Amino acid sequence: MPLTRDASGALLLGSLPLQEVLSAPGTPAYVYDLDGIATAARQLDQAFGAAPHLVCYAVKANTAGAVVRSIAAQGCGADVVSGAELLVALACGIEPDRIVYSGVAKRNDEIDRAIACGARGIGAIQIESVEEIARIQARARAAGTKARVSVRVNPNVDLTEATHAHIATGHDEAKFGVPLDDAFDAVRLVGESPDLMLVGLGVHAGSQFTSLEPYLESARVLLHLVKDLRALGPFSGLRFVDTGGGFGVDYGQGASPAPADFVRAARQEQEAHGLGDLALYVEPGRSLVAAHGVLVARVIQSKVTTAARWLMIDAGMNDLVRPALYQARHRIVPLDRDAADVESVAWRVVGPVCESSDDFGEHLLPRAPPAAVAILDAGAYGYTMASEYNGRPLPVEVFARGGKIVSKTERGTVEAWASERARAGEG
Ligand code: LLP
Repeated sequence: MPLTRDASGALLLGSLPLQEVLSAPGTPAYVYDLDGIATAARQLDQAFGAAPHLVCYAVKANTAGAVVRSIAAQGCGADVVSGAELLVALACGIEPDRIVYSGVAKRNDEIDRAIACGARGIGAIQIESVEEIARIQARARAAGTKARVSVRVNPNVDLTEATHAHIATGHDEAKFGVPLDDAFDAVRLVGESPDLMLVGLGVHAGSQFTSLEPYLESARVLLHLVKDLRALGPFSGLRFVDTGGGFGVDYGQGASPAPADFVRAARQEQEAHGLGDLALYVEPGRSLVAAHGVLVARVIQSKVTTAARWLMIDAGMNDLVRPALYQARHRIVPLDRDAADVESVAWRVVGPVCESSDDFGEHLLPRAPPAAVAILDAGAYGYTMASEYNGRPLPVEVFARGGKIVSKTERGTVEAWASERARAGEG
């Protein structure tokens, strides 16, 4: 648990007293513990032992340069889903060879960018439809190179019990991946193309799996397929199998297996299928960063009605959309003291945005409202999904190492926001 309290009751993230954020740079602010993130990445990388592997950090979870660099420094590569994310990964020093690019609708300019970087283009463009193959081939031919690709198959596993419907991707009604029935065709088409080289096959079944089984089920579908393919031919270019991301975190609802447990179990399956010579790629996002980030917010106002005791804070669904979008629950704790040490009551914590879904749920907090709170486990899919809805500039981000704030981003001003919107459409 990266959060503790000091003797005076003040909340620490890593060893940074979060109160320090209140004076500079103010709230709402995402605060990240870079040491915790680096440790999480290192532990996962070490879990592979001597086995060939690559941890491709799913940049979409948290794109901040300091975060991506901390993870890259532990030997990780990246999984990107847009040309812009690719640029971030490259700018953070990740070698093109160590980047994979997923996405069902990559634009031509994004494919061109992926093909053009480094000496041989990125490690693999992940093909997500049979239809996409001709387009990637044409772009590679036009660039005069042989693009390295992998085929991401949709494993078609039933995930209804395993995770929230919005973040389950590996079932047959999802838009993601090449349908299993078309996988052989996709591999044949890639094999026949002089402009493409098949270097891997992968799956990604979804996110926030809190048990091993759904992850392993989709891994087995992949491994089975690769085994069958290899029985047909040598596939000399094949370097890796990619079992995707999705390792769950504990949002307070119960522990999840450690990311290392997921990879050890996947590696065992790989060996059991006789595919131990291939590198194992995984694409974790959330599990490396969620617990090492919090969203700090000030309490603006309380209001007691017959319906609830409302606690209005200065962070809203525009800053952290997960509760509104997925009915996600994030723990909320006071910054200055432990709610367990004083008389506490159930407060319904809400933001300032004019939507009923701008609601962080009911939380046990001191009867005398605290001045500020921390919303926990907000390091993943927090800032990256934030918007400026309701004229609210994006939250700032604060980066800590060794218990000290080492950098922060600039907050946009309401004046700048207002003048930009007021000018929009005016020639
Ligand atoms: N690889 C691919 C191809 C993905 O689509 C994703 C996530 C990942 C890896 C990383 O998954 P992770 O290890 O973070 O579970 N916004 C949602 C999560 C969406 C995940 C989308 N894809 C949330 O806040 O829960």
